[in-house]
Amino acid sequence: MSEPIAITEQAVSDAVDAALAALATATDSAELRAVRSAHAGEGSTLAVLNAQIKSLPGDQKASAGKLVGQARARVNQAIAARETEVVALEEAQKLAAETVDVTALPTRRRIGARHPLSLLQDRIADIFVGMGWEVAEGPEVESEWFNFDALNFDADHPARAMQDTFFIDPPESHLVLRTHTSPVQVRSLLERPLPVYVIAPGRVYRTDELDATHTPVFSQVEGIAIDKGLTMAHLRGTLEHFATQMFGEGAKIRLRPNYFPFTEPSAEMDVWQPGAKGGARWVEWGGCGMVNPNVLRSAGIDPDEYSGFAFGMGIERTLQFRNDLNDMRDMVEGDVRFSQQFGMVV
Ligand code: DAH
Repeated sequence: MSEPIAITEQAVSDAVDAALAALATATDSAELRAVRSAHAGEGSTLAVLNAQIKSLPGDQKASAGKLVGQARARVNQAIAARETEVVALEEAQKLAAETVDVTALPTRRRIGARHPLSLLQDRIADIFVGMGWEVAEGPEVESEWFNFDALNFDADHPARAMQDTFFIDPPESHLVLRTHTSPVQVRSLLERPLPVYVIAPGRVYRTDELDATHTPVFSQVEGIAIDKGLTMAHLRGTLEHFATQMFGEGAKIRLRPNYFPFTEPSAEMDVWQPGAKGGARWVEWGGCGMVNPNVLRSAGIDPDEYSGFAFGMGIERTLQFRNDLNDMRDMVEGDVRFSQQFGMVV
C-alpha cells in the first residue's frame, strides 16, 4: 500500500498539474497509455488520495470527496481529449506513410515472348534429344560442295541455277547461301564418330518472292541417322514418333515415292493432323529417304557397312499449318504482337 498523503488542495492540484504536464508530452498511444496508468491508474496519487477518503472523519469526507473527485474527472477528461488528438495524429501519419502516387511511372516491364519459330525449333530439338539424338549446326554461308556436290547433285542440276540459289561474289569462291539444311548431313558425318544421330535446325535461303506461303529466308530442320543395319522401318518409326509429339495422339505419317539426289529411295512425307481446325487432314510435311551411298562415300563411310536415313522439313510451314496461321509474312515482320499471342510455349 502506498504511503498516505494528506488530502490537501495543494496535494490534489500538484497531482493534477503533474498529470497535465505528462499528458502534454504524450505524442502516441503507447506514451498515452503510460501517462494514463501513472496518473489515473490504481497506483496514481489521485487514486491513493481517493482511497484514503473512507478513513477520514465523517465531517471531512464530503469536501475531500468533492476535491479529489473533481480532480480525477479533470484528469480523465484531459486524457480523453488528448487521446482523440493522438488517434487523429497517428491516423494522419499512417495515411501519409501509405500514400500511393498514382501518377508515378510504372517500373514493371511487360512480359515479352519468344518468337514462335524459335520455340518450335527448340521443341523439335527436345523431341529428338529425348530419343538420344544430338543437335548439330552448320554455316549459313556454305560451300557449293557441301550444299550440292557432296549431296550427289549433278553439275547441271536445276537447283544450282541462279534463279534458285543466292551465290556469293565472286563466283570463284564457290560459296552459296545454303538452300537447305542437308549440307549439315555431310558435315556431321565428317565431324563425328559413327554411329551418328543428329538433328540440325537452321536458316536457309532461296530466291523466292515473299508471299503468304513463301519467304526467301526460312528455317528447316534436318535429321540424319547413320548406323549399322538401319532401314526404312527405322525412318518410319522415328517420323511417326515425331509426328505424334508434334500433332498429338492419333497423328501418323504416310510416304509417297519421290526423288532427292541425296537419298535412295526417297519419299515425300505427309502427316495426318488429327486436331486440324477444319477437321483431321493429311498435310505435306517434308522429304525423307535412305541416305544415298554416294553421300556416305563423300564423307568417307563404307556404304556396305553402314546405312542410314535422313529427313528434312520447313519450320515456318510446320508452324503455319500446325498453329493455323494464314500468312507466313507475319513470321518475319517482327511485330511483337504476333509473338505475344504464343507467349513462351508453342
Ligand atoms: N533438303 C530437302 C529440301 O530442302 C528436304 C529433304 C528431303 C531433306 C529429303 C532430307 C531428305 O534429308 O532426306 O527440300
